[in-house]
Amino acid sequence: MKVIKTILKYLLGAFLVMQLFFVTYDEPKNTDPALEIKAPPEIMAVFKRSCYDCHSNNTVLPWYSHIAPISWTMSRHIDLGRKWLNFSVWESYTSEQKDTKLTEIYKAVYHAMPLRSYVYAHPEADLTQNERDMIREWTGKSPF
Ligand code: HEC
Repeated sequence: MKVIKTILKYLLGAFLVMQLFFVTYDEPKNTDPALEIKAPPEIMAVFKRSCYDCHSNNTVLPWYSHIAPISWTMSRHIDLGRKWLNFSVWESYTSEQKDTKLTEIYKAVYHAMPLRSYVYAHPEADLTQNERDMIREWTGKSPF
């Protein structure tokens, strides 16, 4: 028992120390709404439900987003996600950039996106096969 208590004490200590390394989230304000991606409502609904938390400036942060070590991973995913693809500023991309990103979306919705760890916490974000196909078709890309 004593051993377990000691271990628990150290774990709690480690957890508390982790909280000192808090992160701040970049929360971009006043993005020009004209820059947001334009797509049919059924496509927009999927993007908003499954992608916007990491790929837009409209991130909804859950209560645990400030608790380390979750906060470390979460802030990195949001930063990286926005760098790769930000639906809120889509219209500021050049046509080449858009074209590349459409190809990436075509590939990513097959399996990689939304991130598994995200779906675990947001089961409603998972895409059905129908939705994956619908988005692929909308990109106008093909596997070749
Ligand atoms: C939990 C955060 C998160 C969610 C939700 C998410 N992504 Fe991502 N996405 C990322 C991160 C982080 C990257 C950067 C590359 C990586 O780490 O794999 C990325 C990269 C991408 C890329 C470019 C790189 C690649 O792998 O081809 C595309 C395209 C993409 N995501 C599309 C989507 C789409 C479409 C959705 C919704 C169906 C989505 N993502 C949902 C976090 C997320």
